[in-house]
Amino acid sequence: MVLTAVILSLVCAATAEFNVVRHVSKAPRSVEPAVVPAAHTPAAIEKGQSGIPAGTVSLNNTAILEGSDLDQEYLTNVTIGGQTFKAIIDTGSSDTWLIKKGFNCFNLTGAPESTETCGFGSDGFDTSASPTFKAFPNVSFNISYGDGEFLSGPVGFDTVSVGGLSVTQQEIGTPDLAAWEGDTVNSGLLGLAFSSLTSVFNTTDPTKASNENHIPYDPFFFTAVKQGVVTNPFFSLALNRGALTVNTTEDPNLGFLAFGGTPPVTLDTTAVTVPIHWGYSATTGDPSTKSNAVFLYYTVDVAGYTFPGSTSVTTKNNNTIVDSGTTLNYLPTKVAKAYNAQFVPKAKLDKDSGLYFVECNATVPAFSILEAGTDDDGNIVCISGTQDGGEDTPENVFILGDVFLHNVVSTFNIKTDELTITRRKKY
Ligand SMILES: *[C@@H]1O[C@H](CO)[C@@H](O)[C@H](O)[C@H]1NC(C)=O
Ligand SMILES: *[C@@H]1O[C@H](CO)[C@@H](O)[C@H](O)[C@H]1NC(C)=O
Ligand SMILES: *[C@@H]1O[C@H](CO)[C@@H](O)[C@H](O)[C@H]1NC(C)=O
Ligand SMILES: *[C@@H]1O[C@H](CO)[C@@H](O)[C@H](O)[C@H]1NC(C)=O
Ligand SMILES: *[C@@H]1O[C@H](CO)[C@@H](O)[C@H](O)[C@H]1NC(C)=O
Ligand SMILES: *[C@@H]1O[C@H](CO)[C@@H](O)[C@H](O)[C@H]1NC(C)=O
Ligand SMILES: *[C@@H]1O[C@H](CO)[C@@H](O)[C@H](O)[C@H]1NC(C)=O
Ligand SMILES: *[C@@H]1O[C@H](CO)[C@@H](O)[C@H](O)[C@H]1NC(C)=O
Ligand SMILES: *[C@@H]1O[C@H](CO)[C@@H](O)[C@H](O)[C@H]1NC(C)=O
Repeated sequence: MVLTAVILSLVCAATAEFNVVRHVSKAPRSVEPAVVPAAHTPAAIEKGQSGIPAGTVSLNNTAILEGSDLDQEYLTNVTIGGQTFKAIIDTGSSDTWLIKKGFNCFNLTGAPESTETCGFGSDGFDTSASPTFKAFPNVSFNISYGDGEFLSGPVGFDTVSVGGLSVTQQEIGTPDLAAWEGDTVNSGLLGLAFSSLTSVFNTTDPTKASNENHIPYDPFFFTAVKQGVVTNPFFSLALNRGALTVNTTEDPNLGFLAFGGTPPVTLDTTAVTVPIHWGYSATTGDPSTKSNAVFLYYTVDVAGYTFPGSTSVTTKNNNTIVDSGTTLNYLPTKVAKAYNAQFVPKAKLDKDSGLYFVECNATVPAFSILEAGTDDDGNIVCISGTQDGGEDTPENVFILGDVFLHNVVSTFNIKTDELTITRRKKY
């Protein structure tokens, strides 16, 4: 899955009123892990991550995650207006939405399909059954994701609770039109990126969405900080590596999303804090470090990659998104090529799909491999966890996805606009 939100062309948006986020470029600095306090109780740490069965331990402000779709996605329980659904955790987009009961399903090219085809995990959110739901009239929700999925429909406000953290009057999308390739478990998504990337427009007709009628709003965690319901202005993600087994639709206890602290996993002492350095130009849509750039994604500088044989592999344009909604890493062509050459036997680039495939029993250089499903003969095939994200050009943006995030706890600070990456103890 690539659930990075695709921004409406920013090209003619020079006059649009974007929230201007000021940010200064700061040098990376090392931090003591203690700078990021735990969001949970010490007793929970002592039990250890594997000792916390789903739903049995209450961790304040910490949501327990599960994997779905061969562990290519991370989900958590989200309760909206008293109804609980599984939603995808996504740092690559900003809207929180639940599919609306009675929705219509389409395929990725817009042809109508049966509702089952969209693969949601429920009939959808029943806005009329929520005592706290308030419609937002005369506006609409319209979002497209990097893998071609798209949704649109009405907007409202409701009480949203995740991992014990509850906010009131959160703006949410309640799409009634969906082109979605679901996992039969999730019914929506929890967007954790910046306000300028939200997808609500001042028009009743979602096909008329544009930069001119864009009405940005505070995403869930930003609302939590404003409402003072979370101690610290950051959240942390621990995404556990899944098991290499097919047929897995749902895999419990696959990590944590901790609000205002760190999750109950064992950390190494190696940590680095880097600025969210790259915003996006409102005139060109390209990554930009100018003071009038707007933050959309958690985009940081990655100047190079280290793996066996990597001594000469650095990048010129360092803009890289840290995205829990994307399964694999998408790195500059030259990095992906050098890395994939280090498998024994070497990963092979498949011209048709553009993907690097590897033998499932190959020796893996750092990073990791993921099971991709089965081929036409029913054999399990494996793809490399690091794929070609295109040429190293200024307008291209690379992605560090779940394959990278499995190794670290990533802490996203929305006040200081910094990302702290703390290495996890080997697990
Ligand atoms: C998620 O919600 C379901 C249904 O309400 C519940 O059975 C399950 O225990 C919850 N899972 C977690 C991890 O809290
Ligand atoms: C969660 O917070 C509440 C209120 O602060 C407290 O009473 C409760 O003991 C906490 N629970 C855990 C498991 O920390
Ligand atoms: C959507 O369905 C139409 C009609 O059946 C078909 O022509 C089209 O190829 C489908 N698109 C995709 C992406 O499957
Ligand atoms: C919504 O639009 C209708 C028709 O244009 C208008 O009568 C109504 O006042 C609008 N409602 C709000 C809350 O703006
Ligand atoms: C939508 O646009 C109308 C007309 O320009 C304006 O009166 C209204 O305040 C806008 N609504 C929002 C929510 O921005
Ligand atoms: C979303 O808006 C774009 C225009 O910006 C439009 O082309 C597209 O059809 C809209 N999508 C939906 C599902 O309404
Ligand atoms: C997957 O499911 C099929 C059908 O139930 C079964 O035959 C097969 O052994 C399963 N594979 C694994 C790896 O569990
Ligand atoms: C990328 O990072 C390198 C090393 O830190 C730096 O020299 C270079 O200027 C950066 N490139 C851009 C476009 O900022
Ligand atoms: C690895 O798998 C391939 C095909 O799947 C097989 O031909 C090869 O013998 C295996 N190598 C080892 C060392 O097991």
